Amino acid sequence: MASQAKPQILSDINRLLYLFLMLFLSIHVASGAGGTWKLLLNNVGISAMHSQLLINDRVIMYDRSNFGPSQISLPNGTCRNSPNDSVSKRDCTAHSIEYDVALNRIRPLTVQSNTWCSSGGVTPDGTLLQTGGDKDGERKARLFYPCDDESCDWSEIDNALNVKRWYASNHVLPDGRQIVVGGRDEFNFEFFPKTNAPNTYSLRFLSETNDLDQENNLYPNVFLNTDGNLFIFANNRAILLDYSKNTVVKTYPEIPGGEPRSYPSTGSAVLLPIKNLEADVIELEVLVCGGAPKGSYLLALNENTFVKALDTCARIKINDANPKWVLEKMPRRRIMGDMIVLPNGQVLLINGGSSGSAGWELGREPVLNPDLYHPDKPIGSRFQVQNPSTIPRMYHSTATLLRDGRVLVGGSNPHEFYNFTGVLFPTELRLEAFSPSYLESQYRNTRPRIMSPSLHSTVNYGGILRLRFRVLGGVKSLVKVTMVFPSFTTHSFSMSQRVLVLDHVTSLRIGQWTYEVRVKTPRSANLAPPGYYMVFVVNQDIPSEGIWVRLQ
Ligand SMILES: *[C@@H]1O[C@H](CO)[C@@H](O)[C@H](O)[C@H]1NC(C)=O
Ligand SMILES: *[C@@H]1O[C@H](CO)[C@@H](O)[C@H](O)[C@H]1NC(C)=O
Ligand SMILES: *[C@@H]1O[C@H](CO)[C@@H](O)[C@H](O)[C@H]1NC(C)=O
Repeated sequence: MASQAKPQILSDINRLLYLFLMLFLSIHVASGAGGTWKLLLNNVGISAMHSQLLINDRVIMYDRSNFGPSQISLPNGTCRNSPNDSVSKRDCTAHSIEYDVALNRIRPLTVQSNTWCSSGGVTPDGTLLQTGGDKDGERKARLFYPCDDESCDWSEIDNALNVKRWYASNHVLPDGRQIVVGGRDEFNFEFFPKTNAPNTYSLRFLSETNDLDQENNLYPNVFLNTDGNLFIFANNRAILLDYSKNTVVKTYPEIPGGEPRSYPSTGSAVLLPIKNLEADVIELEVLVCGGAPKGSYLLALNENTFVKALDTCARIKINDANPKWVLEKMPRRRIMGDMIVLPNGQVLLINGGSSGSAGWELGREPVLNPDLYHPDKPIGSRFQVQNPSTIPRMYHSTATLLRDGRVLVGGSNPHEFYNFTGVLFPTELRLEAFSPSYLESQYRNTRPRIMSPSLHSTVNYGGILRLRFRVLGGVKSLVKVTMVFPSFTTHSFSMSQRVLVLDHVTSLRIGQWTYEVRVKTPRSANLAPPGYYMVFVVNQDIPSEGIWVRLQ
């Protein structure tokens, strides 16, 4: 892998276009307290089953490469021979694209092997590492190093994984490697790059949480605890794993009710914003929302019966001496939802349905309304219903936070092949953005604008980050500075998602509307693995546009 990143700042032309785009958006979008939706592109050619924002503000998306032609050609008129594809033996179409946020434009990319239901994450130098998939892709790793022109594309590594990884989850580790956890029929984990042989470590928790004929524990929710261990949630419970010794150091109770919340009873989960980073033991909380009652998958598959999804979230303080799940009711039932922690620390629940199961053809009753969750409000008043989209985003859809604070929504393909006719939820090729209400023009005078450092900069662990920013209406209370790791999203889970609230050192007014805030950068890689983060200044819950800061 490349050792030195060379991200170039967006060209001046790109910046101007971006400015125009933003002006256009602010003029043409109706406002409302519940956020707004905008259709970005009508046909991106593929269904965005997997999605990752990179440091050049382009989003890599891909579906799978063995289910027939997509609606976008491969670059330069190339074709792939695909003898094992049941639909087309020679495929001249792309199954991965790059979406340029500033230009609202796509270009096709070339994946060779089958990326279906794979996993991934961003390495410390900004490369997208993607692992596994199906058939010829099950043991591959694929790398995509971002570029400012159109020269970059996927490269693939054979036998990069020890075993097949299909429906596994990755997490970026403090040393910059990635751990790959589980997957269908794999009750173990491994690392990329590989450690010494054998590199595969068995994990009984994964066989114990595997429900007979239903699984309910795929795409486990993996989070790096601030003590360096991994919190792993699957089905209805969790463990804390010391992956370096392969020892379970803590076992968490089952969520009250015991209903499953992992694939195909797909709920979602996030680590709530990490605060008070100087504390000896950090109070870290995980929030798991939605899912489906046990048996939902089999009832949908065998009996055409679509059971109502779960309408609860469960929240737990993972570093408590005696941790307990606390249940909260959501405004609605949700399965296959995505959870995105926004730059101001609020959590967006978006996409999915309210009955049935994950898996082909098994989801029903699309949920068009996102819900916003305010972690710091009292229980019972945390949810705020958001305005609906018009597009169902069922199985195989994604949501991705952008640096400008919008959430990019794509995908949905609950079928074995691309299927646009005669089905309940046609394969979805449209790309939309959800703008939370913090982007509305009424907050123009509250919204900070970061003036320095520039769009790309570097900070060290245990250092000071000095940010200058403007607020046209002036700052009335202390601003927050947040750091967001760009997560890899598929199957309702955003891998390595992490938001930190940085501790203040000083805060100064240095001009009429200009301010400077100094914050401490995280002191260790257990708090924040190395790599590029989006840094935001947040004034009264209104975030600035982010800047990319490399933590090393
Ligand atoms: C096609 O499938 C066969 C049998 O599973 C396998 O041996 C072969 O490597 C596959 N070919 C490609 C190009 O993936
Ligand atoms: C396509 O052609 C352009 C121009 O010749 C070249 O720069 C680019 O690398 C090519 N892309 C691929 C994927 O071959
Ligand atoms: C689409 O789904 C319908 C209904 O299940 C089916 O009859 C049709 O064959 C499918 N088309 C494709 C291209 O898979």
